Amino acid sequence: MTAPPRVLLGIGGGIAAYKACELLRLLTESGCDVQPLPTDSALRFVGAATWEALSGHPVATDVWTAVPDVPHVRLGRNADLVVVAPATADLLAKAAHGRADDLLTATLLTARCPLLYAPAMHTEMWDHPATRDNVATLRRRGAIVLDPAVGRLTGADSGPGRLPEPAEIADLAQLLLARPDALPRDLAGVRVLISAGGTREPLDPVRFFGNRSSGRQGYALARVAAARGATVSVVAANVALPDPAGARMLRAGTAEQLHEAMLGAAADADVIVMAAAVADFRPRDARQHKIKKDGGDPDPVVLARNPDILTELVRSRRTGQIVVGFAAETGDAEGDVVAHGRAKLARKGCDLLVVNAVGDGRAFEVGTNEAVILAADGTSVEVTHGPKARLAAAILDAVSARLGERAG
Ligand code: C5P
Repeated sequence: MTAPPRVLLGIGGGIAAYKACELLRLLTESGCDVQPLPTDSALRFVGAATWEALSGHPVATDVWTAVPDVPHVRLGRNADLVVVAPATADLLAKAAHGRADDLLTATLLTARCPLLYAPAMHTEMWDHPATRDNVATLRRRGAIVLDPAVGRLTGADSGPGRLPEPAEIADLAQLLLARPDALPRDLAGVRVLISAGGTREPLDPVRFFGNRSSGRQGYALARVAAARGATVSVVAANVALPDPAGARMLRAGTAEQLHEAMLGAAADADVIVMAAAVADFRPRDARQHKIKKDGGDPDPVVLARNPDILTELVRSRRTGQIVVGFAAETGDAEGDVVAHGRAKLARKGCDLLVVNAVGDGRAFEVGTNEAVILAADGTSVEVTHGPKARLAAAILDAVSARLGERAG
C-alpha cells in the first residue's frame, strides 16, 4: 500500500477559518493525511480540538512545542502539498517577506512542494497595493495564489474577498497532488471564454428538452484557467454548482441564449472553449400554456434546428484566436470514438477537439473523465481516467503550447 499524500493545511486568522474545517474533511476523505497548522488568531475562530479531531493530529502554533523533533523542518520537508486557507492579508504579507515567527510561517520556508494559497479578506484589504504586491511576489516565486470569490463577506457587505468554496480548493489540491506542475502561471493576461453546462429548450412553461451535462468539466476548466492566471468568463447553462472563484459569470438557458452570449463575448477572448452540451433542436413553438394530455394539441413537438455555435465561432474567429470544441462519442459500426472525433474536428474546423467516450455512466454528472485531445495539426494527447481538473489542465497545456507558437 502506498503512503497517503501528506498535506499541510495552514489556517489564517479570518472568519473563513470555519470553512477550512470542511476543506480538511474533504481532503482526509479523499485519502490525504492532513496536518493542520492554524495560527494563534485562527484558534480564536476555531479551537485546537476541532482541528485535532478532524485530522487525527495534535496541533501547535509555535516552534517551541516538541523542540527535539524540529517540527517546522520535519513538516516542510515531508509535505507533498501545502494549502493555506484562508490566506489572510497578514499571512500573505508574512509569506511574501519570508517572516517565520510561528510554526506555519516557518514551515512555509522549509516546504519545497507546491504551495496553494486561497485568500479571504475584505475587498479593501485584497485591493490594497501592499496585498497586491505581496500576491505578485508569491506568484513570481511559483506559489499558486487563487483569486478570492466574489460574494457575501463578514457582515452585510459583499465583493471580492470570499474564500473560494472548499470543494473548489480541494479539487485544485487533488490536481496538484496528481500533477505538481499542473498550475503554472502561463495564462496570465490571456482571456479565456468557456461555455459550461447543458441547454434546456422549453416545450411549455413546465417541460423542456435537456441533457445530462452538469457543467463540472466546464467549471473545472474555468477554475484551472483562473489558477493559471487567465482572465476567465463563463457562460453557464443551467449549472447547479458554486461559481468558480475569479471568473466573470454570464448565464444562458437555451441554445439561442447561449449562442447570443458566446458570440457577444467572443470578440474579447483569446481562447474559446465550447464545453457546454448544446441541444441541436428545440421545440419550434414553445407553448404559452401547459400542454394537456388530452388538450387536443395535435403535434406539440415540432422541432426547429438550433444554430451550431461552435461552427459559427470558428467561422468568425479572429487571427490567433484558439477555439476548442468537445465531442461526446460512443463509437458505432461506422468507426470508434477517435475516428468520429477526427471527422468532427475536420467538420467543425476548431483547433482542438476534446473527445469523450460517453455511455455506461461515463463523463456526465460525475467528477471524473477520460478523453483524447485531438489537434488540427494531426497530433493527439490521451488523458487517462481521472478528475475533471486533470483533463482541464491537459486541455490548457495544449492551448498554452499553441498560444506560445502563435506569439512567437
Ligand atoms: O455537433 P456536436 O454536438 O457533436 O459537437 C459538439 C461540440 O459542438 C461541442 O463543443 C458543443 O459545445 C458544440 N455545439 C455547438 N452548437 C450546437 C451543438 C454543439 O456549439 N448546436
